[in-house]
Amino acid sequence: MDSRARQIPHEMKTMSTPAVQGTESRTFDVGWAREQFPSLKLQVNGQAAAFLDGPAGTQVPRQVIQAIENYFVSANANTCGLFETSRRNDAMIAATRAAMGDFFNCDASEVVFGQNMTTITFALARAIGREWRLGDEIVVTTLDHDANVAPWRALEEKGVLVRQVDIHEEDCMLDLDDLKRKITKKTKLVAVGYASNMVGTINPIAEITKLAHSAGALMFVDAVHFASHGLIDVKALDCDFLACSPYKFFGPHMGTLYGKREHLQRFKPYKVRPATDAIPDCWETGTQVQELIAGIGAAVDYIAELGRHHDSGARGRRAALQAAYRATVPYERTLLTKFLDGLKAIPGVKVYGVTDPKRFAERCATISLRMGEHHPTQIAKFLGDRGIFAWDGNFYAMNLSERLGVEQKGGVLRIGLVHYNTMEEVNRLLKALSEFAAP
Ligand SMILES: Cc1ncc(COP(=O)(O)O)c(C=O)c1O
Repeated sequence: MDSRARQIPHEMKTMSTPAVQGTESRTFDVGWAREQFPSLKLQVNGQAAAFLDGPAGTQVPRQVIQAIENYFVSANANTCGLFETSRRNDAMIAATRAAMGDFFNCDASEVVFGQNMTTITFALARAIGREWRLGDEIVVTTLDHDANVAPWRALEEKGVLVRQVDIHEEDCMLDLDDLKRKITKKTKLVAVGYASNMVGTINPIAEITKLAHSAGALMFVDAVHFASHGLIDVKALDCDFLACSPYKFFGPHMGTLYGKREHLQRFKPYKVRPATDAIPDCWETGTQVQELIAGIGAAVDYIAELGRHHDSGARGRRAALQAAYRATVPYERTLLTKFLDGLKAIPGVKVYGVTDPKRFAERCATISLRMGEHHPTQIAKFLGDRGIFAWDGNFYAMNLSERLGVEQKGGVLRIGLVHYNTMEEVNRLLKALSEFAAP
């Protein structure tokens, strides 16, 4: 799955942007990246579409589309058959597990596929919660998407106590003192998001994992939003579980889970009797969407290819993935800096989360804002009519929307910047927002 080499036109477009100061002095080739994504050529009302909707699902590169098509042409069968297409299907699944192993930095046997992160997390919570009893505790946060809250709250039916960690409202960072207070000797699991899908806050996962472990609790990380914005390393984080959705990192609509081998072996999933007891397959209920698993492998390989394009010395897929994020992280920061700077000139804008450029390591380029008392739906429609795609609402980060006092007011407007977005798109967005704000 790693050798899907294709000749890519190398023309550098005008959109290349130097990396921010203080990071490696490489130039991010956004022109090359955009060439890989056929959908980015879409026009709306005579204008090029600007896809600023990445937090709800990124676009996919050609490699992913081709892998899904190839699957149907040459490997369309169920698993474990004694004939060619089934063998190819098995080989493809094994190759994708290896690709996700490189993506997470874990063994392929620690990678589980599933319908989406929400479904995986409900199934996991139900399975590992089997052992928990009245008086046991779980810690969730105000910052998280509800997919990392509701599955744990479902265990309240068994008498498990769920404690919720607050945020600092002024910068939307987790209140780590509150977290320390809420982790007790009774805590069985701490569930935290890697990055907020609403305000972009990046949480100190390694530090929180240490706190969870020192209380004897498991650590579950929702990395769905983080995955397109930063390199995941489950070894360095030392977390017990980490869930991701490939459709948020340039792949198809599915979910994936990393689980430490010892946990995948020890906990018992709900499953049908004839299905294998071997990990990781025993955690994958029923027939998987195998054509999309083919797409997941291609998405990881796309990111690796992006890495090699920026660092031809990157050896092996993991090194290439590291190279990719070394190139995209500073680039996304230049877009973020420009956007937040430009917003200052527009009256009535309130941005949620970290806005100080010196602290941009604590956030990713996902920006939520309100403009006076304007309903976010109105702004999203105004932008949509101009070919600029952005979401409005609470994005299922309901605790946060309530905490920030915007839930009853239509939530916020969310701008999601990923590596295929351009400075030109940011300028277009700023111009459109200025027009919207104009009396
Ligand atoms: C941070 C975060 N967690 C979880 C989810 C749920 O993911 P899925 O749609 O794969 O269930 C989302 C989706 O928006 C998300 O942004």
